[in-house]
Amino acid sequence: MARPAEYWVCQVCGTAARKWSGRCENCGGWNTVVAEAAATPIPGGLSAPRRRGAAGISFTNLKGVEAPPPRRPSSLEEFDRVTGGGLVPGSALLVGGDPGIGKSTLLLQVAGGMALSGLACAYVTGEEAVDQIRLRAGRLGFAEAPVELAAETALGEILAALDSLGHLDLLVVDSIQTLYAEGIEAAPGTVSQVRAVAAELVRYAKRRGVIVILVGHVTKDGQIAGPRVIEHLVDTVLYFEGERSHQFRILRGVKNRFGPTDEIGVFEMTGRGLAQVANPSGLFLGRRDPDVSGSVVFAGIEGTRPLLVEIQALVAPSSLGTPRRATVGWDGGRLAMILAVLETRCGIVFGLRDVYLNVAGGLRISEPAADLAVAAALVSAAFDRPVPPNTVIFGEIGLTGEVRAVPHRELRLKEAQKLGFEAALMPAANGSRPEGFHVREVTRLAELVASLVGDALEAGPGGPHRNH
Ligand code: TYD
Ligand code: MG
Repeated sequence: MARPAEYWVCQVCGTAARKWSGRCENCGGWNTVVAEAAATPIPGGLSAPRRRGAAGISFTNLKGVEAPPPRRPSSLEEFDRVTGGGLVPGSALLVGGDPGIGKSTLLLQVAGGMALSGLACAYVTGEEAVDQIRLRAGRLGFAEAPVELAAETALGEILAALDSLGHLDLLVVDSIQTLYAEGIEAAPGTVSQVRAVAAELVRYAKRRGVIVILVGHVTKDGQIAGPRVIEHLVDTVLYFEGERSHQFRILRGVKNRFGPTDEIGVFEMTGRGLAQVANPSGLFLGRRDPDVSGSVVFAGIEGTRPLLVEIQALVAPSSLGTPRRATVGWDGGRLAMILAVLETRCGIVFGLRDVYLNVAGGLRISEPAADLAVAAALVSAAFDRPVPPNTVIFGEIGLTGEVRAVPHRELRLKEAQKLGFEAALMPAANGSRPEGFHVREVTRLAELVASLVGDALEAGPGGPHRNH
């Protein structure tokens, strides 16, 4: 048999090329391109030719609503919140995340919980030994849960074994990178293998009406094919995030054919597995010291849920030719924009100073409503002035220095009041406000600056140069 032609595939983005290169032309990753055998069709797979005389497909129309698929609760409310109210039979989910973040723990809890509620669940691991999983299950309190457990990496064997199990509601496969399809000449974890295995498992999910959850590791060094190459195959993509040094974990939906993608699920890693955090605001505020400059409480919204988070800024003299602009949990480009607006519209020059911005607790914020809180933290840090105590801040900043209204202001204020805050700095807008709550509306960024450090500005124009 002729050896199938080789081609070169980037293990991060999946781009294929005819020849090797040290750097992927598409994503720019270094040393990510490796040789893979050209894909061979999976027996009976998509490329099987249509039999002569077989009826072709028939088109239909958009009318005729079928009953929405009944969802299966996952036993974890935070998980259901992200999937849109439970798992849809016949759907395939991908749960991605850094190694060690807690994916196996989360999915063992889901499988255990669903099994205890009477659903038929199987957990196939290609990473750990059966005894390791049992040990973990014991720790999580699921030793008695009737989960069908197997340690295997050959896809064919797994599918055959699943057939012999009979009816199944949930299948967890941990992880997609360790499995291999026998017909494919490539090592497990390569793009061809990961794609083939995922396609086959998704087909299994649709054919049998089984919920299939795939675990995928995301690595930055590009050694293992990232789950990104299979995102388009599955119905739902969730990422499990968090700093490993923090105990908080966030489950975030990035694609969902059956629900919203802006909800987050919040968990806390404990000695007995992942605990759900129903009211995350308290958690992210932590032990905050209100008298320190550069610390601001942002009243945010994640999905449908209000969330108060602390935003910290530090402005320090720089010893570098190009001062540092470092952010954790917030977009670096957005920080540059806010610094530019502060400089141009408010005359606060950060010039040769390092600027650090951190969203406390390991959360990542993408809401533009955080602009005003970020600006307040920067100004407060630059002038070493704490922001008024018990105050939350939110609002979007435009390039002309205007402060724009943001949605859900009542929800934000209510949450702030619930957590003991008494005042808010926010954009002008109509609508009710909680009783006894002091609201200060700002329409321009300069107003915010004046209210935080007005007297210091008058004493020395040019802002944070006051040390000079
Ligand atoms: P794991 O689920 O194995 O991560 P992943 O599958 O994403 O690689 O979880 C790994 C970490 O979680 C490990 O460092 C230990 C910690 N952990 C706890 O703190 N408590 C627990 O109850 C469990 C099961 C794990
Ligand atoms: Mg794992």
